[in-house]
Amino acid sequence: MEILGVDIGGSGIKGAVVDTKTGELKTERLRLKTPQPATPEAVAETLKELVEQIGWKGPVACGFPARVIHGVVYTAANIDKSWINTKVEELFSKTLGSEVYVANDADVAGLAEMHFGAGRDYQQGTQVLFLTIGTGIGSALFLNGKLYANTELGHLKFHGDSAERYCSDSARERYELKWKEFGERFNEYLTYVEFLLQPDVIILGGGASKKFDKYSECFTVKTKVIPAETLNMAGIIGAAMYGELRMKEAQKAKKK
Ligand code: BGC
Repeated sequence: MEILGVDIGGSGIKGAVVDTKTGELKTERLRLKTPQPATPEAVAETLKELVEQIGWKGPVACGFPARVIHGVVYTAANIDKSWINTKVEELFSKTLGSEVYVANDADVAGLAEMHFGAGRDYQQGTQVLFLTIGTGIGSALFLNGKLYANTELGHLKFHGDSAERYCSDSARERYELKWKEFGERFNEYLTYVEFLLQPDVIILGGGASKKFDKYSECFTVKTKVIPAETLNMAGIIGAAMYGELRMKEAQKAKKK
């Protein structure tokens, strides 16, 4: 199936048409600047522009940096506060005049990584924790290859604040940490999530995963920790995969 996958982030809105079977991009990746302030209406208009520039008439699915449950946004850690309680699927669908599916950005990137990346060998009988290290820390938990959505483990309380304030990539920049110092901080966080979940493997994605070799030597957790393979395409590919899942569910529901 071909679906336009869109990765909505704090600085850019990126999209491409994806063949969900192969994970291949069927169009070039297009990036538009996230409007400022990034209110729901402004982002919806930029999404419309992206779809028009790509010239796409088919289904659209987006990854979004917040907890999104049944089409409604419930958190706004690194996005405009006006997003809280926004019916994002309804808003985007109305603006585009066609069905749009929306889910948490780390959850959809995790779908891509589990299918086409480092998670492909960890399916039935395993518990995989996928973490993205960027402006925030995103998380996606997979039990037997199935997503347990909206876990938001970047918001675990840590050193008196949320973990992502302590050891995301933006925290590394804010505190001007050397890679080794960042690695030590992130290792503290990994030790905590390992204690909570005991996963079989932890996959690190997001911007900082490209520098994995600069800090991974600091990790002392027993759990195997590996870098993601799909990197900055994961958000787009995963969004399309999520759209396909939702369309299949809708078809099943119709048949009943
Ligand atoms: C948000 C998550 C998101 C993560 C990565 C966090 O601040 O709360 O929903 O997945 O950043 O973008």
